[in-house]
Amino acid sequence: MASSIYSRRRFLRSTAALTGSAFAVPNLLLRGQDGAGKRLNLAQIGAGGKGQSDTSYVTLEHNIVAMVDVDQDRLEKAAKAREKYHLNANQPAPPAPKLYNDYRKMLDEMGKDIDGVMIATPDHSHFLAAMWCLKHGKHICVQKPLCNTIWEVRELHKAAKEAKVITQMGNQGRTMEGQRMAKEWIEQGRIGKLQEIKLWTNRPIWPQGIIGKKPVPVPAGFDWDLWLASTPLEPHFDLDLPPEKQSKRGTSVHPFAWRGWWQWGSGALGDMGCHIMDATFNILGQVIPTKIEVESSEISDLCAPQWTSLKYHMPASAKQDAMIVSWNDGSKDGVPNKPAKPDMIKQDTWDKATSGMMFIGSEGIVFEGDAYCEHPRIFPEERFTEARKAMGDGTHKKTEPRSPTPGNPQLEWAHCIVNGGTPGSNFDYSAALTEFVLLGNLAIRSQQAISWDKEAMKVTNVEAANQFIKRASYRPGWLPV
Ligand SMILES: NC(=O)c1ccc[n+]([C@@H]2O[C@H](COP(=O)([O-])OP(=O)(O)OC[C@H]3O[C@@H](n4cnc5c(N)ncnc54)[C@H](O)[C@@H]3O)[C@@H](O)[C@H]2O)c1
Repeated sequence: MASSIYSRRRFLRSTAALTGSAFAVPNLLLRGQDGAGKRLNLAQIGAGGKGQSDTSYVTLEHNIVAMVDVDQDRLEKAAKAREKYHLNANQPAPPAPKLYNDYRKMLDEMGKDIDGVMIATPDHSHFLAAMWCLKHGKHICVQKPLCNTIWEVRELHKAAKEAKVITQMGNQGRTMEGQRMAKEWIEQGRIGKLQEIKLWTNRPIWPQGIIGKKPVPVPAGFDWDLWLASTPLEPHFDLDLPPEKQSKRGTSVHPFAWRGWWQWGSGALGDMGCHIMDATFNILGQVIPTKIEVESSEISDLCAPQWTSLKYHMPASAKQDAMIVSWNDGSKDGVPNKPAKPDMIKQDTWDKATSGMMFIGSEGIVFEGDAYCEHPRIFPEERFTEARKAMGDGTHKKTEPRSPTPGNPQLEWAHCIVNGGTPGSNFDYSAALTEFVLLGNLAIRSQQAISWDKEAMKVTNVEAANQFIKRASYRPGWLPV
C-alpha cells in the first residue's frame, strides 16, 4: 500500500486548527441520568491483535462505528471477527463500522459521531493516537503501557486532565477481585508485617538481545510509514537472526515482535510490568521508587536484553514501610530467571508459575502464580484457610472499591462514560503505575543503578540516563502541540 493518502499537508492543516485551541468538549451529557442505558459510539485504533479482543469486550453493549489499522488484511479480519462474535452470541450482525488506515482521517471525518476511542497499537504509537483523540474531545481507553517514554506518559496524563475525559489503561488485573483481596489480606495482617515483594515473568517470548535488521520489501497492504508514526522513517526490515534464535512467529517486526525494540516497544518489563507490578503499586500506596538497581544480559541501543534482574527501592507510604521490590524476567542459559522458591510454597505450584508475584510477610506469603493477581493465595495453608473463613463469616473487611465489570477494563471505562464513576486504571493511577514500570528501563538502558527525582523528572546520578526519558525526535507533523 502506498503511504496514506491522508497527506501531510492536510494533517498539518488540521494540526494548525487544533493547535492552541482548547480541547474539543467531550460528550459529558452521557454521564449520570442522561446517559443511563445509552449505547456509546466507539472506535478501535489498532484493530488487529489485542485490539480485536478489546473490541469484543464492548461490542455487544456498545456500537463500534469505526475501526482503524495500518494493515489492511488485519483490519478486514478484525471487522469480520467482530461480526462473528455477535453471531456466536446469537445476536444479529451489527452495522458494519467504517474502516480506516489512518486515525487522523477517521477523527477528521467522523469525530462528531464518536464518543470514545480504544487504542491498541504498538507501544510507540499510543501517545500520538491518544493525543489526537484528546484534541477531538474523545474519552480514551489506552492499552498498557500507557506510552513507552516517561515524558509521553506525563504529557498524556496532563492533556487528558485538561480535556476532562474519562480515561482508562487496559491492565485487566486492576478490575479483578483477586488484587483487592490480596491488598485487604495484607492490610488486615494475614501475613504479619509486609517486608519484601518479588515479581517475575518468563517474558520475553519474542526475540530480544542483540538483533540485526535485514531490509525486506514492505508486505502488500501494510503501511510501514503509518506504522512507524513519529519514529524516524527507515527501510522496512525483518529481524536478522540465526534460525535457532527465530521465534515460531517468524522474523517480521510487525506484528508482535516490535516489543523487544526500544523505539517501538518497551521490552519484557514494559510488556508485563503494568500487569505484574499493578497489585504491588496499589498495595504499596502508589508510590514511585527512588532508586533502581540493575543486572541484565547484553543490551544494544536498539533492543532490550534477554534477561533482567532489578531492585526497585520503594519509599514508605501511609500504609507500608519502605521496602525492596525485585523484578526478574527472561531466562539465563535456558533456565527461567526466577527468584528462589521459598520453602513454604509447594513445588508444583511454583513450577506452574511462569509469571507471578510474592508478597513476603513476617508470618506468611501472599502468592500469585500469574500476571494479574486474579487468584492469589496465602502460604502457609492454615493462614489461607483462616482468611477464607473470615471472608465467609464477614470478619474480612472489604475496604477496596470493587469494579462493576471484573476482568473487563474496556467495559468498565464505557460503563463510567455512560453512568458516571471513575475507572480503576484512570490515568491518575495508570500514569504513575507506568512511570514505576518504565523507570526500570531507564536503569536497564543505563546499565547502572539510577536515583530518581520524580518532581524534577530526572535521574540525578547518571546524566546519560536522562536521554531515555523522552524520545530523541518526532517526525515533523506528528506531534500535536
Ligand atoms: N492488556 C493485555 O493483556 C495486552 C495483551 C496484549 C497486548 N497488549 C498491548 O496492546 C498493544 C498492541 O499489542 P498487540 O500484541 O496487539 O500488537 P500487534 O502488533 O499484534 O497488533 C497491533 C495492531 O495495531 C496495528 N497498528 C500499528 N500501528 C497502527 C496505527 N498507527 N494505527 C492503527 N493501527 C496500527 C497493527 O497493524 C496491528 O494490527 C500493545 O501496547 C500491547 O502492550 C495488552
